[in-house]
Amino acid sequence: MIVLFCGDVVGERATERLAASLPELRRRYLVDLVVVNAENSAPNGLGMGAKQVDQLLEAGADVITGGNHSWDSEESVALLDLPQVIRPANLAPGVPGRGVLHAEAAGETLTVVNLADHCAMKSVKATAGKFLPAYDGWRAADKRGAVLVDYHGDHVLEKQIFAHAVDGEAAAVLGSHTHEATGPLHLLPGGTAFVTEVGMTGPGDGVQGFAPTNLVSGLRGTGNPFSGAMPSVSLGPLVLGAVVLEIRHGRTARLERVSWPEDDAAPEPRTKSGDAGGAI
Ligand SMILES: [Fe+2]
Ligand SMILES: [Fe+2]
Repeated sequence: MIVLFCGDVVGERATERLAASLPELRRRYLVDLVVVNAENSAPNGLGMGAKQVDQLLEAGADVITGGNHSWDSEESVALLDLPQVIRPANLAPGVPGRGVLHAEAAGETLTVVNLADHCAMKSVKATAGKFLPAYDGWRAADKRGAVLVDYHGDHVLEKQIFAHAVDGEAAAVLGSHTHEATGPLHLLPGGTAFVTEVGMTGPGDGVQGFAPTNLVSGLRGTGNPFSGAMPSVSLGPLVLGAVVLEIRHGRTARLERVSWPEDDAAPEPRTKSGDAGGAI
């Protein structure tokens, strides 16, 4: 099974471009299943947007994951009722949404588990007092077939320890939330793919996809970057934070980064288990 995973999509412009690119990415990388973290897809970057999630699903996204922003607006919370949409699983009962999804593709079952760390979730009002450690969420998850984890976390050390703790059990642990892609693509000894941070799909020139102006003036004026107006989504060039992985028998056999189709000069289409530039 070949899975395309796209990190946090930020704003309507990035969502539109990703949606427009998904059919070609599916074709080029022989993708069987697409997972997109859409916690910042709303036009203001805060929570999921109904129009944006619809665009992603229409374009071929199979699973929508989330994070600390999943409850940012009533519109975003309502989207948690969709069968394709999940949010972090490591929460006590009573929080809207589900954290685990079972999907079928290429004749196989894939369980997608969305987890988050305390650093990422500590200021979320909707989940106050309901946060559980990520590993507890992992242990409690109903895992069938291959398992892919969207680990939405701030804490690099915890992400890396978690990935090693589930090596051989999960097919992949893919980091999201911090928006700035990390370089190494790891295949751990037990066959678990691990990326500390896949990176956002959004404007690459600002602060996590947002224009720096308000944050900078807040910092200079009061010492608190968040003391002023909310920053707007940046208008800069869009980066694609995405990886494609080939999963066989519950383990990852191949992992590579993905470029926008128009920027990718590599021969096309790929072949299953074939060599590809930058792949491991
Ligand atoms: Fe995010
Ligand atoms: Fe986040």
